[in-house]
Amino acid sequence: MAILKIARMGNPVLLRRAEDVPDPTAHEIAALVADMIETMDDSRGRGLAAPQVHVSKRVMVFRPPTDDGDDPEADEDGVLALVNPEVEYLSNEVVDGWEGCLSVPGMRGMVPRFTRIRYRGVTPAGRPIDRTVEGFHARVFQHEFDHLDGILYPQRMTDLSLLMFDTEVAKFMEEYGADEDEIAEAEAAD
Ligand code: NI
Repeated sequence: MAILKIARMGNPVLLRRAEDVPDPTAHEIAALVADMIETMDDSRGRGLAAPQVHVSKRVMVFRPPTDDGDDPEADEDGVLALVNPEVEYLSNEVVDGWEGCLSVPGMRGMVPRFTRIRYRGVTPAGRPIDRTVEGFHARVFQHEFDHLDGILYPQRMTDLSLLMFDTEVAKFMEEYGADEDEIAEAEAAD
């Protein structure tokens, strides 16, 4: 296993559609996923998509929130890996939330995301996944899935005055009357 170099905003690999994986159970995909998980954990991220480690393939790893219960398809550390994922937006309703990204280091932004989605894909073990999820789980998926289509979260923002350095988020939120829990949540967003 190895910690991989993370591509940062502006790198062309982050701006193109990643390629479908012909064989999700190929050894090279399992090896890539293992390295991606190690890289994500080293950077304390919540998710990572293959283009972020300079591999233009439709592979993503993320930690579904544990308040949904233990994920039977996740590994022992709670990480779910998906190959060739697809998404269907089940609601026109969107909700704003703070996001960060390992490819946009040191920044936070307020991003609207669909509240309810269905996603499908296959694990590197060849198990099919088909789920309907809401809330934060849906947000994390949408963020990682966007990476596979060459989209970074600032491109989803509707108010760029809410794109800021993470060191300013707490001050900003205090100014607008947020409580400690809300500030902690914003600082943890990634
Ligand atoms: Ni990201």
